[in-house]
Amino acid sequence: MIYLDSNATTQVHPDVLEAMLPYLTDQCYNPSSGYRAGKAVKKAIDKARTQVAKLIGAEPEEIVFTGCGTESNNAALFSLANAVGKGKRVITSQIEHSSILRVCEHLEKQGYAVERVGVDESGRLDLHAWKQAVELDDAGFATLMWANNETGVIQPVAEAVALAKSAGIPFHSDAIQAVGKTPIDLQQEDIDFMSISGHKFHAPKGVGALYVNKNVSFDPLLFGGGQEAGRRSGTENVASIIAMGAAAEMMQLRLDADGHAGVAALRDHFEKRLMAEVDGVLVNGSKEFRTKNTAHLAFENCEAAGLLILLDEYGMACSAGSACMTGKQKPSHVQTAMGYSAKRAKSSLRISFSILSTMEETNDAVEMVKKAVRKLRSVQGFSGVGPVTVYT
Ligand SMILES: Cc1ncc(COP(=O)(O)O)c(C=O)c1O
Repeated sequence: MIYLDSNATTQVHPDVLEAMLPYLTDQCYNPSSGYRAGKAVKKAIDKARTQVAKLIGAEPEEIVFTGCGTESNNAALFSLANAVGKGKRVITSQIEHSSILRVCEHLEKQGYAVERVGVDESGRLDLHAWKQAVELDDAGFATLMWANNETGVIQPVAEAVALAKSAGIPFHSDAIQAVGKTPIDLQQEDIDFMSISGHKFHAPKGVGALYVNKNVSFDPLLFGGGQEAGRRSGTENVASIIAMGAAAEMMQLRLDADGHAGVAALRDHFEKRLMAEVDGVLVNGSKEFRTKNTAHLAFENCEAAGLLILLDEYGMACSAGSACMTGKQKPSHVQTAMGYSAKRAKSSLRISFSILSTMEETNDAVEMVKKAVRKLRSVQGFSGVGPVTVYT
């Protein structure tokens, strides 16, 4: 199987697996235990905390380990909502992940207002509308993703933070698709909360982190044994936390070494070949501001749902839009916000690489996509519309 769906999840890197395994076997102790073996596990967690903090330019005590990126987003938004109080307005964008969108809908039902700012056709935030939104009298706090999960487009976070701060409101960023792929230095940004998820950068699924700026107060989502300095109770997922630390260090070394040029080279080679060898291939969103691992392409007169079925049959995994949208009939909310037609949105594939992808796989993937597009176009003709069951 050629795996090109790394924005959905990544494979645990072999070095990361090696780092975590002892904590599933010999080092099985509870980090809260008072004996030496327990204290050694606690020390290992603190090392992971330092590794994650370093990747984003934070201080170790600003990192709270959580159960996933979704939890980090929920915890940040509920804490901010509690702090500002009902009746206040949440400022966000139209292209957020469901773990922000659904919380905002829930908050609306609880008596908060929500302003969802749009993006331009490159998929980047409309900063003019953002400024107006954060300056509204009832603006309570702002949340904006760092990079979009579907298109990979990187948002103008520094500008958005500056506007929110000069309007006097706190700022959270869902940086789950950006951490490890693009440099982030929180010494340079006045951010209050930021969400991270381990499985997007070669740690296992089911571990995340929330950056909590040391100068802000935080209202926890979970109460209990007081782990994570009382900010996230529950016995720690030790092995996964160790893995996330190891993965963070690995990604930092790669970013420092070549800024992810290796991954970008594969993505660019893939795009270049497809655009030269297949008619009617378009890049969706900004080519300048996007994560180096993501290609989001529209194939004229081809339904992505059909392409996915054929590619799966040939042995290649990728997505139509985001993983959670696959199988749903509605065009993606991200492409709708970018002003794309439903037809273009439904003809789009997300192909996402990782540091484990190879050039051989990339070339094989090009051949598979070419074959799938040819087959689909021969069945569908040029209307580009047809029931997907035809292609099985
Ligand atoms: C932008 C973004 N936010 C949040 C999440 C949720 O993270 P997790 O799967 O760790 O809950 C994802 C995962 O797809 C994501 O891409």
